[in-house]
Amino acid sequence: MDFSFTEEQLMIQDVARRIAQEKIGPSAEGFDKSGEFPLENIRLLGENGLMGIEVPGEYGGADMDPIAYVLAMVEIAAADAAHSTIMSVNNSLFCNGILTHGTEAQKQKYVRAIAEGSAIGAFALTEPQSGSDATAMRCRAVKQDDGSYKINGKKSWITSGPVAKYIVLFAMTDPDKGARGITAFLIDTDKPGFGRGKTEPKLGIRASATCEIEFNDYIVDADDVLGNEGEGFKIAMGVLDAGRIGIASQSIGIARAAYEATLAYVKERKAFGQPIGAFQMTQAKIADMKCKLDASLLLTLRAAWLKGQGKKFTTEASVAKLTASEACMWIAHQAVQIHAGMGYSKEMPVERYFRDAKITEIYEGTSEIQRLVIARNETGLR
Ligand code: CAA
Repeated sequence: MDFSFTEEQLMIQDVARRIAQEKIGPSAEGFDKSGEFPLENIRLLGENGLMGIEVPGEYGGADMDPIAYVLAMVEIAAADAAHSTIMSVNNSLFCNGILTHGTEAQKQKYVRAIAEGSAIGAFALTEPQSGSDATAMRCRAVKQDDGSYKINGKKSWITSGPVAKYIVLFAMTDPDKGARGITAFLIDTDKPGFGRGKTEPKLGIRASATCEIEFNDYIVDADDVLGNEGEGFKIAMGVLDAGRIGIASQSIGIARAAYEATLAYVKERKAFGQPIGAFQMTQAKIADMKCKLDASLLLTLRAAWLKGQGKKFTTEASVAKLTASEACMWIAHQAVQIHAGMGYSKEMPVERYFRDAKITEIYEGTSEIQRLVIARNETGLR
C-alpha cells in the first residue's frame, strides 16, 4: 500500500488550491450574499481542466484519475461549497455518464463544452413527488414514428438548472416496467419545449443556482438517447455512485475549512486567563474533528482508487459519502459552538460552512439512502 500521491495528482491539487485561494475564497462571501451564479469563476475552472478532470484530452478534459478529482474537489470546496457543487455536477453527473454510456458523437458534442468550461451541464432525475424513490418519476417520453421521443413533465431541484446549456435527463418510456422502463436523454435547453420554473431560495450553497425545469412536447432525436431504451435507471445509479465520491470530497473540503478556522481560533481566543484551546473540553472536540476529517478522506480515497482500478465501488462510495457528509455537519456544528457568538455571526465564514454543510447529507442520496445501499449490499437482503 502506497499513501503518496503522484506528481500529476499533486499538480492538479496545486492548480485547484491556487484558484481557490486567489479567486474563489475572496469572492465566496459576496456570492453567498447575492446568490449570483459565479459564471466567470466556473469558466476559469474549466480553462484549467477542473470541469472535466477525468475526461480524456480528446474531449477537452484533463485526463486524470478519480484520486486527482478528489484532491481538486476538496480544495475548491474548502474555499466555497457552491463552486464545488457546480464542479461536482459537471464532472461526476454530467461528463461521467456520457463518457461511460455515450456514443462518439455524443461525447464530442456534449462533453467538450462542459469539460472546457464554455457551457454548464446538469442532471435531471428528481421530481416534485419523487426524490429518494427515483423510480416513481412521472416525466414521460413517448417514442414517435420517426424514432424520436416527445417529452412532457417536470423535474425539480436541478443544480445549475437556471444556466445549464445541456442536461442529462431521465424519463419514463414504459411505466409498466418500473425501473426498467426509464431511459436517459441528452437535452439542449435552447430547443423549443424546454422551460425553467422557480429558482429555489436555499439555506446554503446559495451561489449554485437550483430550479425546476419543464418539458412541453420537447422532441429528442434518436441520436440523443443515452445508452439503450430502458437502461436509464441503471445509468442514473452508476452515475450517482461516482457522484457520491464528489459529494464526499465536497464534505471534506467544507469540514477542513471549518476545522482550520477553529484550530486558529482556539489558539487566539482567551477565556479564564488562557487560550480556549488549552481547555480539555475544547481539546476533545479538536481531536474528534481531526479523526473524523482523516477518516472521511481515507474512505473517499479508497472509493476513488477502486473506481480508478475499474472495480465495483458502489458500497465504498456510499460509505465515503455517508461518513464524510455526517462528519462535515458535525465538524461545522462544533466549529460554530467553539466560535460561540462569533460562529453565529455572518462576520466569520464559519456560519456559512454550517449552512453549506447540511446539503451534503441530503443530495445525491440522503444519509438514509446511503445506509440502505450499504446494508442491502452487505446483507444481500432488502
Ligand atoms: N449501479 C448499477 N445498477 C444499479 C445500481 C448501481 N449502483 N443500484 C441499483 N441498480 C440496478 C439494480 O441492479 C436493478 O436492476 P435490475 O432491474 O436488473 O434488477 C435496478 O437498478 C433497480 O434497483 P433497485 O431495485 O435496488 O431499485 P430501488 O427502486 O429499490 O431503488 C435506491 C434503489 C438505492 C433507493 C435508489 O432509488 C436511489 O439511490 N435513490 C436515491 C436517488 C438519489 O440519489 N437522488 C439524488 C438526486 S440527484 C442530485 O441530488 C443531483 C444534484 O443536483 C446535486
